[in-house]
Amino acid sequence: MSEWGDGTRSVHAGLPEPVPGQPFLPGPVFAAPYHLDPWQGPAGAPNGYGRPDNPTRRLLEAAVGELEGGECRVFASGQAAITGLLLTLLRPGDTVLLPSDGYFPVRAFATETLETIGVRVVFVPTVGPYPDLDGVRLVLVETPANPGLDVVDVAALAARARAAGALLAVDNTTATPLGQRPLDLGADLVVASGTKALTGHSDLLLGYVASRSAKLVEALTGWRNTTGAVPGAFDAWLAHRSLATMDLRLGRQSANAEAVAALLAGRAEVTGLRWPGRPEDPAYAVASAQMRRMPGVLSFDLGDADRVARFVDAARLVVAATSFGGLHTTADRRAQWGDDTAPGFVRLSCGVEDTVDLVADIAAALDAAGPVR
Ligand SMILES: Cc1ncc(COP(=O)(O)O)c(C=O)c1O
Repeated sequence: MSEWGDGTRSVHAGLPEPVPGQPFLPGPVFAAPYHLDPWQGPAGAPNGYGRPDNPTRRLLEAAVGELEGGECRVFASGQAAITGLLLTLLRPGDTVLLPSDGYFPVRAFATETLETIGVRVVFVPTVGPYPDLDGVRLVLVETPANPGLDVVDVAALAARARAAGALLAVDNTTATPLGQRPLDLGADLVVASGTKALTGHSDLLLGYVASRSAKLVEALTGWRNTTGAVPGAFDAWLAHRSLATMDLRLGRQSANAEAVAALLAGRAEVTGLRWPGRPEDPAYAVASAQMRRMPGVLSFDLGDADRVARFVDAARLVVAATSFGGLHTTADRRAQWGDDTAPGFVRLSCGVEDTVDLVADIAAALDAAGPVR
């Protein structure tokens, strides 16, 4: 499958071999217990109980694993995957490096939980500088980071981590496996929220971890089976169904982000514009070298909260919502969630609307919002 293009891989990922009379993607299997063989018990069939065993979930894992180039385990949400990864790998006395500018609930989990069980947490900005990694158990990076969109050179950091005996995990949420393949770049683990562009329809929560290390996958599987952080069958099925259009969705989102970035770059009232696909962006050199395509997410500053509200209120195609990577264009003023960002900082996630419509709508909404009052 790896020799095919992204569209082909998205459409075919994880599908079973064609069987006459059967659907392309089998429907969700809803089961808590399954029938057992009275003589052999659980050893007699692949499915015994729904927490460890679900065929719908397994097909989704095959799909995401193919796209990431590793063995995948899906979780009930991105946070379930990240916290599962951290708690599976870290023990009291270990040191973990986490992004200081990444998704803030990860930092909250680190200070509220990891530190209280004796894990040493060091926060590092995505762009670095990264300290000496000797004695570090795990480095988790988010690239591009949410919401600031800085990037880190994964291959270079992977080489440093390997030399120091540390594990490197990359949060691939913003990039998606079509945008970036961290395992190919040398990371030991990929972790992500599948809630965003991976599934893209703003209708489910999902997370996953993928790795080429059988030992790490086994440990994570054990963690998931005992904590029970599994997605339900219907969400797993919806997610798999949504993967088929990922190449098309990401293509339009990225084209829209490029056009919106060009518009915003020319507007004097917009400051701090970030989109890693702009040659002027500080992240461009590393992003364009390691990423296979650019995300549909950009960020900028409109000066204050009131002006952000006027902008979103005036727009017909931009709605106020958190999360990103969906079909609809959304704007989120991150400070309202407690993110350490300026009051007028906006994360804009471009949807799949027609580019010309979206650019015209955003230009008109900026005009209507007027200057900072
Ligand atoms: C980069 C990143 N990682 C992880 C998560 C957590 O994912 P979830 O909301 O699916 O738990 C998010 C959510 O926004 C995110 O942006």
